[in-house]
This record gives sequence, structure tokens and C-alpha cells, in this order.
Amino acid sequence: VSILVLNGPNLNMLGTRQPEVYGHTTLPQIEQMCRQLSEELGISLAFEQSNHEGVMVDMIHASKGVHDAIIINAGAYTHTSIAIMDALASVELPTLELHLSNVHAREEFRHFSYISRVAIGLICGLGPAGYLLSLRAMVDHLGVKA
Ligand code: DQA
Repeated sequence: VSILVLNGPNLNMLGTRQPEVYGHTTLPQIEQMCRQLSEELGISLAFEQSNHEGVMVDMIHASKGVHDAIIINAGAYTHTSIAIMDALASVELPTLELHLSNVHAREEFRHFSYISRVAIGLICGLGPAGYLLSLRAMVDHLGVKA
């Protein structure tokens, strides 16, 4: 089993980016946590980040036949990108939507998500722990024995 964790724009700035909202943990630290859990669960992990919508679309297309599921924190593209939603729909892989912050407790424009339309579920507001919970949830969903 192989899972792609795909991070969108500005998530490379974690650690110093609005720490009152996103905390002090960096993306490489989150990746490390995910790698450790993936080893424990016996799954393969691809962990990617891009600030570019089209690059994310390409990465989603490339995941077909390579990965079994996608966990996506699409950052601000969550709220704007029909292209990323369509890309996820086109590869027909189980997709879990993830956010560090509780988007529903924040500005109105963060309440709407294109990703939710094509996701099996959503984890938000739990910080970096959400990445680990997402991996466990996806492994459960895929019916993989941990
Ligand atoms: C985010 C929430 C988005 O609204 C925001 O644009 C981000 C990060 C989160 O992880 O909380 O860039 O996806």
C-alpha cells in the first residue's frame, strides 16, 4: 500500500508562518513523523509539497497506478481550485482532506471547500497530529492490516 500526502501552497513556510494559527512544527518535521508512522503501519509514503496549482494537478495525475490513496492539504487552493478537485475526481483514488487549522472557526472564505466534494472525509483543527490521524484513517479505509 502506498499513500501520497500532498501539501499545497505556503505549507513549506510552516514553523515560522503565523505560528499562532499553524504552530511551530515545520513541514520536514511533519514529514518525519509521517515516515515513522508509515514504517510502523508497513505502508509506503510519498510526501510532497508545491506552491503551484498546475504542479499539484500533475502530481495528482501521476499518482494513478502508483499510489492507492491521497491525503491532501491543499492550503488556500482548497477554497478556490476547481482544477485540483477535477484532478482528484479523474484519478478516482480515495482522498482525505486535511487542514492543520479549524477552517470552520476562521474566516468565512475558508468555510467552503472544493476538495470536500471529492473526499471520503475531512480532518481539520488538530494541527500536525491530523497528518498521523489521516494516515491511520486511510489505512483503515483501505482495509490494510496494520
Ligand atoms: C490550511 C487552511 C487554509 O485555509 C489555508 O489557506 C492554508 C492552510 C490549514 O492547513 O489549516 O494554507 O489548509
